[in-house]
Amino acid sequence: MKICIIGTGYVGLVSGTCFAELGNNVICTDVNKKKINDLNEAKIPIYEPGIEELIKRNTHQKRLKFTSDIASSIKKSDIIFICVGTPTNKKNNKANLKYVFDVAHSIKDNLNKYKVIVTKSTVPVTTGDRIEKILNIKKNKNKFDVISNPEFLREGEAIRDFLYPDRVVIGTNANKPNKIMKNLYLPIIKKKNRYFHTSRRASELIKYASNAFLATKITYINEISNLCEKANIDVKDISIGMGLDERIGDRFLRPGPSYGGSCFPKDTRALLTTAKKFRTNLSIVKSVIKSNEYRNNLLLSRIYQIMSKNIKNKKITFLGVTFKAGTDDMRESSSLKIIPSLINKGANVFYYDPSGPKKDFKNNKIKYCSNIKDACINTDLLIIHTEWNEFKQLNFKSLVKNKKFKIFDMRNLYSPVKMKKNNIRYFGVGR
Ligand code: NAD
Ligand code: UGA
Repeated sequence: MKICIIGTGYVGLVSGTCFAELGNNVICTDVNKKKINDLNEAKIPIYEPGIEELIKRNTHQKRLKFTSDIASSIKKSDIIFICVGTPTNKKNNKANLKYVFDVAHSIKDNLNKYKVIVTKSTVPVTTGDRIEKILNIKKNKNKFDVISNPEFLREGEAIRDFLYPDRVVIGTNANKPNKIMKNLYLPIIKKKNRYFHTSRRASELIKYASNAFLATKITYINEISNLCEKANIDVKDISIGMGLDERIGDRFLRPGPSYGGSCFPKDTRALLTTAKKFRTNLSIVKSVIKSNEYRNNLLLSRIYQIMSKNIKNKKITFLGVTFKAGTDDMRESSSLKIIPSLINKGANVFYYDPSGPKKDFKNNKIKYCSNIKDACINTDLLIIHTEWNEFKQLNFKSLVKNKKFKIFDMRNLYSPVKMKKNNIRYFGVGR
């Protein structure tokens, strides 16, 4: 099939590359010309394990192309995927749909034959109706169907999530685009029940309801971990004990810093504004957002407590600053809240991140180290902020060479018992 991807970010690039890998002809487009030029020189704009090899193979096989000529890409394709960002509109917490509607207007002007227009971006209920309205001019009669196909991939696991999804959700009331989409997804929907066909609005809401539910699960275990700290219980045992109940399941029960990323924070906020529009009270989602925001303060207090309120001129080292391991994405990472507060209180903050240095810290007092050794040497407090594999087997004593150092393991990567045996002052989350 001939596919056009509009918006070549985390979702667009992964989706386009994987569709090409499945044998389709894919054109990825973007308004960001530098991104397209880089991709044409095989420079990959994101950190995502496995993507580089797939891009190289599929561009070599001429199934995957990159261009900033959006109009001709639309004209040449049968299925158009809208994959642009839907960030929070800071004024009202709604999803900012400007980029989605910009794309809708580009499509409107370039419909030369029947096409399926697929919204893969995460968009609030009724967005499909609004896109349809934009396209619905006289010359476009019978030339399109607008459908919803939300994306459930996780950064860092994106290729696997895309090629082996738990489900593919297609939202449309029409038969024709449903058949086309089923055919497109055939190679990856091995079992029939992995393909779920529903109405467009239901599909849009499934995406938000899923993200808000996962955010709730994380927030729940984070709050339980607060209780564990007070009651001298290891939260790991609680996650295991709860997770063994198949109705609950053990995934997304790992406590840590406040959840971040480009999706859970913005999508929970946008869901609330949708609920408001439909005059519905989503009190659970409301308290999840509040609890997650408060968690940064809670972890900061924990750091002061660990350091006996003495952080001025202390060296504090962060291992990992992105919102989780396996990505270079800094969007809504808890480190963006915690690190500036520590610097304001006089700490000297250093960090190492396997995905490289970050431009997101406004304060130039924070120092990037290109390896773990330089970051850890003589530190007073080592904070394990993300769970990269390379942080899981460290010999802290030989790395730090400072007898009095402490560790705050925000991801519970190490055993407190082993740490105690080694005389290392070690603190985890919820234990
Ligand atoms: P992103 O910011 O990484 O990429 C969006 C891209 O769209 C950018 O490259 C931008 O230049 C481009 N763009 C903006 N306006 C355009 C236009 N008019 N024409 C062409 N290109 C344009 O965003 P992302 O993280 O890939 O997210 C995209 C959507 O997918 C969002 O709605 C997000 O919620 C959803 N989503 C993201 C993930 C994820 O893991 N990041 C997972 C599932 C769903
Ligand atoms: C999340 C969802 O998992 C995807 O299904 C969805 O497609 C995506 O959002 C989206 O809509 O964009 P992602 O943001 O890439 O994916 O990352 P997750 O692995 O879900 O982690 C999100 C945050 O929750 C991270 O800060 C992570 O550290 C935290 N988390 C996750 C925990 O603290 N504990 C857990 O057990 C799991």
